Amino acid sequence: MNTIWSTYIQNIGTLYDSRSLRFCDLFRDEYKKIFALEDKHKILEIGCGPGALAESLARWYPSSQIFGLDRDSNFIQFAANQAPHIQFSEGDATSLPYESESFDVTISNTVAEHIEPSAFYGEQYRVLRKNGVCLVLSARKGIQLAAPCIAEESDFERDIWQRTAPRLSENIKKHAVCAYPQNESELPLHMEQYGFRNVKTEYITVNLTPDNPIYSPEMAYAMINANRQGDIDSAQSLKHIAADLVTPDEVEELIRRIHVKYDKRLALYDAGIRQWDTNLSVTMIVRGTK
Ligand SMILES: C[S@@+](CC[C@H](N)C(=O)[O-])C[C@H]1O[C@@H](n2cnc3c(N)ncnc32)[C@H](O)[C@@H]1O
Repeated sequence: MNTIWSTYIQNIGTLYDSRSLRFCDLFRDEYKKIFALEDKHKILEIGCGPGALAESLARWYPSSQIFGLDRDSNFIQFAANQAPHIQFSEGDATSLPYESESFDVTISNTVAEHIEPSAFYGEQYRVLRKNGVCLVLSARKGIQLAAPCIAEESDFERDIWQRTAPRLSENIKKHAVCAYPQNESELPLHMEQYGFRNVKTEYITVNLTPDNPIYSPEMAYAMINANRQGDIDSAQSLKHIAADLVTPDEVEELIRRIHVKYDKRLALYDAGIRQWDTNLSVTMIVRGTK
């Protein structure tokens, strides 16, 4: 039972809510154009987390069989409950529990930077059939601007985040998060180095700005509440990462204040008072064939 990622790095809600928006059907045609896949494929998502991308793939390629694999037991349990039509398994990407040449497509999102490249690409090369497609999605620098009503910090909040900042950095190092960072040249170079051909790069930007009139109120609410969930998860994780530095009461008070701010943000949205908080994600997509 491995629950390191979901306990110490990113919680289920943070990943599921943000990825459900990033891979929502509004952006389906853009992704599908770049993925350039036939339907009726066997598709394996590596490091699928709680499964939001796998769910989108199942909707976008309804005649394909979707598989998802992750090392974290909490993610796999959640994903399997959410989407019983997808075959989720617990396992290690550096030693995939699948036969050689058994998939048409492998795909991953924000995983390449956490796994040693020869194992990451080598295993995908092994399980792909000849002419199979490897898709590596990697988050690049975007824009994250919180609404003014959320960015403002009380002394209480500032004190907690200052007190725990060194511990949070140590935690990232301790769990080897982003141990293999790769820039926009290194990602395709690595894919070629490990045997893939016809390597191409593309970028998709997803502009999640609740006040943007192209979005429905439901989407705007989902964006605001995804940020709320991320902030609450960060506060909750202090109980595991910094239990000796913050009291449970302090964490509860932090969470109460987060709710007050986000409730205010929703009230401003309802009243038509714009905040223009922006979450622009830039995803690089590297595509190669075996
Ligand atoms: C940044 S998260 C991304 C999760 C998911 N792809 C998403 O976008 O929501 C990285 C994921 O890679 C998984 N992971 C890291 N190393 C792994 C390994 N060696 N084998 C399987 N999964 C791994 C983690 O458990 C985590 O779920």
